[in-house]
Amino acid sequence: MTEHLYNKYVQHMTLEEKIAQLLQLAAPFYDEPGDDSEITGPMEELGIDSNTKRAAGSVLGIAGAEKMMAVQKEHLAGNRLGIPLLFMADIVHGFKTIFPIPLAIGCSWDLKLAEQSAEIAAREAAVSGLHVTFAPMVDLVRDARWGRVMESTGEDTYLNAEFGKAFVQGFQGDNLKDDKSRVAACVKHFAAYGLAEGGRDYNTVDLSERQLREYYLPAYKAAIDAGAEMVMTSFNIVNGIPATANQRLMRGLLRDEWGFDGVVISDWAAIKEVIAHGAAEDDKEAAFKAIHSGVDIDMMTTSYVNHLPELVAEGLVDEAMIDEAVLRILKLKEKLGLFENPMRGADPELEQQIVFCQEHRQVSQRLAEKSSVLLKNENVLPLQADQRVALIGPFADSGDILGWWSWTGSKETAVKLGESMQKVSGDPGNVVIAKGCGIDTLSESDLAEALDAASAAEVIVLALGEASDMSGEGGSRSDIRLPEAQLELVREMKKLGKPLAVVLFNGRPLDLHGIFDVADAVLEAWFPGSEGGAALADILYGKVNPSGRLSMSFPYSVGQIPVYYNAYSTGRPKPEEETDNRYISQYIDIPNEPLLPFGFGLSYTTFAYADFSLSSDTMTATRPLEAKVTVTNTGSQAGTETVQLYIRDMSGETVRPVKELKDFRQVQLSPGESREVVFHIEESQLCYHHSDLSYTSDPGRFTVYVGASSRDTQSAMFRLV
Ligand code: GLC
Repeated sequence: MTEHLYNKYVQHMTLEEKIAQLLQLAAPFYDEPGDDSEITGPMEELGIDSNTKRAAGSVLGIAGAEKMMAVQKEHLAGNRLGIPLLFMADIVHGFKTIFPIPLAIGCSWDLKLAEQSAEIAAREAAVSGLHVTFAPMVDLVRDARWGRVMESTGEDTYLNAEFGKAFVQGFQGDNLKDDKSRVAACVKHFAAYGLAEGGRDYNTVDLSERQLREYYLPAYKAAIDAGAEMVMTSFNIVNGIPATANQRLMRGLLRDEWGFDGVVISDWAAIKEVIAHGAAEDDKEAAFKAIHSGVDIDMMTTSYVNHLPELVAEGLVDEAMIDEAVLRILKLKEKLGLFENPMRGADPELEQQIVFCQEHRQVSQRLAEKSSVLLKNENVLPLQADQRVALIGPFADSGDILGWWSWTGSKETAVKLGESMQKVSGDPGNVVIAKGCGIDTLSESDLAEALDAASAAEVIVLALGEASDMSGEGGSRSDIRLPEAQLELVREMKKLGKPLAVVLFNGRPLDLHGIFDVADAVLEAWFPGSEGGAALADILYGKVNPSGRLSMSFPYSVGQIPVYYNAYSTGRPKPEEETDNRYISQYIDIPNEPLLPFGFGLSYTTFAYADFSLSSDTMTATRPLEAKVTVTNTGSQAGTETVQLYIRDMSGETVRPVKELKDFRQVQLSPGESREVVFHIEESQLCYHHSDLSYTSDPGRFTVYVGASSRDTQSAMFRLV
């Protein structure tokens, strides 16, 4: 498959040139002045010479057709064999047109729209000169303290796998070589980065092989099976060994067991960080362990450049292993058509036409509408066009609604909530805007202005939340409530005795004490992207009926974390009915249940479930089951319901979760309309990893749950025989 690449390039390359192909440098190393390059890790003086730079294999964080073409041209002029650079960057949820953060997209449960968002992101990135995106991130997350939950699609393995596949398909399409509007996907972070202890970024991860394979690996596997061209290593340890230096994980499982033969790239400086982990004496040993683990690209350190030559000279690394890594990188360049056309899709004129174009922004707005989740509504929303509204809070007039990974997005052009509400309402004068407070500051003057704005209003809408840098990488929080200044503003507004709605802009599930118990309505907007204000205004005024459903639980408080719907029963489960029995699995000061469960979300209409039935009460491996339910829109407004199917294995060789999402359908229903929804249940959906890691089903009793969330379901039982 790569013999021609070996014959044309590798056999003519010096060892230093081969090793330089394994080096990835960040934009500033290409004399990129200014702040439009992406620096996402500890930049350090790498001390490389110009020969090494000219022979480097890839660059991170350069975008812009003109810029890329200039850098590529200069690189080719200096590269002895004319091997082009690979241009990579984090296009996680949009390039210039920023979509809602992935955690919000996870709440849309709309796989097609998610795929379309990735396709648009790829189109804008490719025309701007990029070849690879460091996405999708499919880390399973169960700890809202971790800042990077915003980058995942949530707490469910199956849903994350479905979104991972959709994103890969959107980014890559079906033919990277011919379709220059796509980019290669790099699934990350392999593996189990989301299990960082205490929700503290980069912290220790420790779990059983069975947990790893049952819950944390399937979404990476799904993305790889969907064709992801690259995998990025995670910063954490797995089974006690840093992933980046973990032969068993990276070669044994990823390459040998799963058959992945694409490029593996370290996360930023992760090879060198094997030393800090305490799993390498020095940089040389870190390089030795990483290359033996099948890590092809060293992102932003010189571990490989400085030490692989001597490791080869000492016979500790076989040059063939280096050739293998170089060939995988050259194969990716070939797949992208870079040898025929090193400029690939870069096109300055087309870039002007399509980047941030109206068509793309309309899709972003649609996805923001579908990603927002109505958490509470006691007859306050939707607003009436002629109502006098006071819009108050740090997000009333803020462009900080793009989220952490919005590198080339523009806060300045982000559509703000206040201006949008004034447009959508019957008369702009109906919406009076006041800041009320800062993210974590409350001044007398701001409060006075807010009280003045609220005094003339019929309804108060508070736009509150986290600044975008309070989540994302390095953004872990130990206290996941809103800052006290904002809670104080809520209390002051509540005293006015007027209908009170809250719109939340945040990158994680929050502890909503002081919000959920005080407000009459709560709309979760997450970081909704470039068109966020317009999407939210349409929802607030009822032009759009919210349909988002939580893909991550909102804990009752931070003390409950980790809290997730597909937990194990324990030997002393807390009964549903009240009990004074102390000796059960419970807290003595808070409930066990999250404030808001996985799959939850309200609508401006109501839906009823009826006639739930199974086609049989027994099933075999060759005779699947059908589950049917009729859903009716019993309200007065058209709406979209996400009908969810969960299954519980009542008794396994190992314990099994009390519920597991296995399928879902989105149905759009007009008022009064009914729809029968049919799910097919196959034996393969009942398989799980046993204690010996065998992946099979067990005969026995199963319960099927169908409903509007992981909490609100109807159930029926069947036997697998
Ligand atoms: C960061 C992130 C990773 C990102 C990479 C390049 O440290 O962990 O997700 O893709 O560096 O920016």
